[in-house]
Amino acid sequence: MNNLEEIKNSSLQEIEREVFREINEIKDPGSLEHLSTKYLGRKGILTAFLRNITQLPVEERPAAGKSANLLKVKLENTLKDLKARLESETGENNDAIDVTLPGRIFPRGTLHPITRISREISAIFSRIGFDIVEGPEVETDYYNFEALNIPKYHPARDMQDTFYVSENIVLRTHTSPTQPRVMEKVKPPVRIIAPGKVYRCDSDVTHTPMFHQVEGLMVDRNVSFGDLKGTLSTFVHQLFDEDISLRFRPSFFPFTEPSAEVDIRCVMCRGAGCRVCSGTGWLEVLGAGMVHPAVFENVGYDTEEYTGFAFGMGIERLAMLKYGIDDLRKFFENDMRFLRQF
Ligand code: DAH
Repeated sequence: MNNLEEIKNSSLQEIEREVFREINEIKDPGSLEHLSTKYLGRKGILTAFLRNITQLPVEERPAAGKSANLLKVKLENTLKDLKARLESETGENNDAIDVTLPGRIFPRGTLHPITRISREISAIFSRIGFDIVEGPEVETDYYNFEALNIPKYHPARDMQDTFYVSENIVLRTHTSPTQPRVMEKVKPPVRIIAPGKVYRCDSDVTHTPMFHQVEGLMVDRNVSFGDLKGTLSTFVHQLFDEDISLRFRPSFFPFTEPSAEVDIRCVMCRGAGCRVCSGTGWLEVLGAGMVHPAVFENVGYDTEEYTGFAFGMGIERLAMLKYGIDDLRKFFENDMRFLRQF
């Protein structure tokens, strides 16, 4: 009795006989689901039977309705029991605990290479007595420029493609604003580094609109350019290795005088010349100098009593050199295969 029309027109007894015959053949939850729809679904056989009761002669309706509803409940209960039995047999019942199963392996993250190297840089500087501080990423024009001796309309502002939030609020273009922020609050001696995110309206293969820098500042009596050299040498030797030499080239920054750009011996070819150092044997890694007296004046430090040095460097660049990464964009793609290597 497989023809649907036939079944629909058949008597309740016939439906009952047929459904229980089919139930006896069920071996998996899938066919149980199928049978349940076939009889109890919206277009199911028993559902249709119940709907058709209105077409029976009035006196037959109560009895037919009662028997059909009884069959429906019986069927629902049978299917429920069977479902539970099948699920426990096939292990599909989530409530059952199978203590022999191996434990679930939770995916484990790794530190992003930028986080890793930032922590390493901070660790090196804290070992030689520097405190780690942080400044805001949304910065005022005053701290980002003015306090650092970069007045409005100064050509040096063009060196940095600034994102303006409003006329006097910017996304900081460098970590240098932490210098005046710290100096305003504490009297010398000051020894800090300030790692963090910076923003510039610039995007190509070697530039991203957000990148990371570390700022360094030391102020005290009798701080000299020699102290700057010693501090940076110690840092480079600890981050890379003892054999890496440094080179200071005269440069210009409005907030330091004298200013220098610092190169390190190419960590890839050790000076022989390669693609990474464009054949020069040197890599430019940071800017530095002696804090400009105008900056001290802005924060109320006595320029006769104190001197200081400052430096700033790009973290992505250092990470690329340290881990041998050849493409800046890899840091921002977050490809798990790349990140898991660290
Ligand atoms: N703020 C400079 C930049 O982003 C880097 C820099 C140069 C920082 C010299 C310094 C410094 O503290 O003394 O290009």
